[in-house]
Amino acid sequence: MVGNMDKSWFDFCRFGLFIHFGLYSLPARHEWVKYYEKISDEEYYKYFNMFNPDLFDPYEWADIAFDGGMRYFVITTKHHEGFCLWDSALTDYKVTNTPYGKDIIKPLVSAFREKGFKVGLYYSLQDWHHPHYTIDHIHPLRDLPKEEACKENSKRNLSVYREYLHGQVKELMTSFGEINEVWFDNSVKYNPDYPYFEGKGREAWGTEELIKIIRNYQPNILINDRLDGEFDFKCPETYMPDECVKVKGQKVRWEVCQSLNNSWGYYRNCSGYKSPHQLISLLAEAVSKGGNLLLNIGPTGRGEFEPKAKESLKALGKWMHNNSDCIYGCTEAPSEFSVINNILTYNPKTNRLYIILINYPNIGTLKIKGDKRRVEYAAFLGDNSEITIKTQNQTFEKMKDDTIYLNIPVDKPKDEVPVVELFLKDRF
Ligand code: GLC
Repeated sequence: MVGNMDKSWFDFCRFGLFIHFGLYSLPARHEWVKYYEKISDEEYYKYFNMFNPDLFDPYEWADIAFDGGMRYFVITTKHHEGFCLWDSALTDYKVTNTPYGKDIIKPLVSAFREKGFKVGLYYSLQDWHHPHYTIDHIHPLRDLPKEEACKENSKRNLSVYREYLHGQVKELMTSFGEINEVWFDNSVKYNPDYPYFEGKGREAWGTEELIKIIRNYQPNILINDRLDGEFDFKCPETYMPDECVKVKGQKVRWEVCQSLNNSWGYYRNCSGYKSPHQLISLLAEAVSKGGNLLLNIGPTGRGEFEPKAKESLKALGKWMHNNSDCIYGCTEAPSEFSVINNILTYNPKTNRLYIILINYPNIGTLKIKGDKRRVEYAAFLGDNSEITIKTQNQTFEKMKDDTIYLNIPVDKPKDEVPVVELFLKDRF
């Protein structure tokens, strides 16, 4: 694995909370609503003038996330809409100028930090509000007639925006104490359907200089991979890689982000909520491939987690309460072990192997490929009840030397996803 000790929290925590909160929480129709509905900047101000999350309680958010088993968080300080959730000196388009009138980021960071969370800040490179952010093919004004769009862009000076971006990132890196992770979103690929708009990448963002600024103020920070330049971890989105993510053949840190439903920002009429079983499987699968899960909640315009989101975290917390040993500090299992239809994780410090039974076998036997001489003891993690190892003559088929046969009950234990813990020995 790349990286050093100061960054090892990332490999230990494994499970984080993503928070998408902004003006888009009011229309409650996806955080890209301004883009989808091609809403003008003037019209979008109605949400700015209405923004008043009166029920926002950062301690409540931190408690819910902690009880759900999450140990770090990443909050949108500014999303594509350009609205800032902190009291930036560089813009008026910020939370302190809304009816709410108070900073969100500062109290949030301190509440989560008090609870022991590592702190991550999301910052959108795209900005649909800044007057010098040039129109591109993923901008609310993208479908202006070509002449008009080009005329408008000729009045915009991207280097002014770049300076603003650098200044804001400097603010974020210097105003809230130690920041453990920074999450940039997103470079803009050139799109031949809009040949008169340029893409935006390292030159547009001034990536090299930006990274210097960040590392200067936060030497231990982890930077994601969307700046079109150097990075510390990869961040596949709503996707599950087949194996540990590699760059030039080397395993790297990675974190998959997933939403609870089909939207990042609060979406009132959203369906497609993932079940507790699916969420546990996502987390387990990410860890089994050496990665992290960053699971998103979009708080409502009143600043609360909606009941369904709370239910999901409650179910995760219930499972994590007695099964978190197969998540924290865990990673891929040694390659000599494998299991069919289920998931393996491994804690290299304690030398324990975990079989996460997302598909509970109902035949009284659990088979794991591996050397049984390496197994000292086996138990369910949920209640520490012993699981015996099958001996000769107890199976239908001839027992294979390279397979561990465990006697597990036909009735699935009460956990949503039961976990078997194998205590391994190095020598036998
Ligand atoms: C996408 C979307 C954005 C969201 C992000 C989270 O890039 O543009 O709305 O914040 O994914 O991964």
